[in-house]
Amino acid sequence: MEYITFALAKGRLAFKTLELLETIGITCEEMKDKDSRKLIFVNEDLKLKFFLAKANDVPTYVEYGAADIGVVGKDTILEENRKLYEVMDLKLGKCRMCVAGPASAKPLLESGQLIRVATKYPRIAKNYFLNKKHQTVEIIKLNGSIELAPIVGLSEVIVDIVETGTTLRENGLEVLEEILPLSARMVVNQVSMKMERDRINEIIEKLQEKLR
Ligand code: PRP
Repeated sequence: MEYITFALAKGRLAFKTLELLETIGITCEEMKDKDSRKLIFVNEDLKLKFFLAKANDVPTYVEYGAADIGVVGKDTILEENRKLYEVMDLKLGKCRMCVAGPASAKPLLESGQLIRVATKYPRIAKNYFLNKKHQTVEIIKLNGSIELAPIVGLSEVIVDIVETGTTLRENGLEVLEEILPLSARMVVNQVSMKMERDRINEIIEKLQEKLR
């Protein structure tokens, strides 16, 4: 039997995913050690492999078949736009993709003015402003601490993930528009979905049953 390989987005989501997989009997003891620097883990009995990757890279591993299954946020799936099947919502890591900024920026979103938008998600931001709102904007790609941008005058607004809203609040910013709700999804390589249909479907069905 071939291994089925899972790519998990490194961090808190990986641990939550492992907890969920454990409820359907998919375990990987050696992966639970939070201090470990190991990157790949094997469950020989179940013929499963697991590896941790940067969230943005998970769709890439899955598209190329280096992983059969991936677990990653909807934000990353949309941003990476890879060829893969999104098969289920794991209902983990729920948050929202929003346009945020100081309250004073709200009129700029209604006037159709050319504004600057800082974000880690240029594709999502572009799609929202250009295709949905028909507003021409200049998108500035950043890699983190996006909330800084409107504070220091790099942009008028940001497009970013809001979970509790604490980061915005503590920096005098607020949600101005909601783009879409987000959560972790299971994605599957298109060839694996055919070649390992039975084993993969069994995993999906068991998870669906758990999440019902
Ligand atoms: C994310 C996001 C916000 C924050 C939202 O950042 O970009 O900054 O979490 O969470 P909250 O609404 O609960 O405050 P992350 O911690 O991933 O780091 P980053 O700044 O590197 O993007």
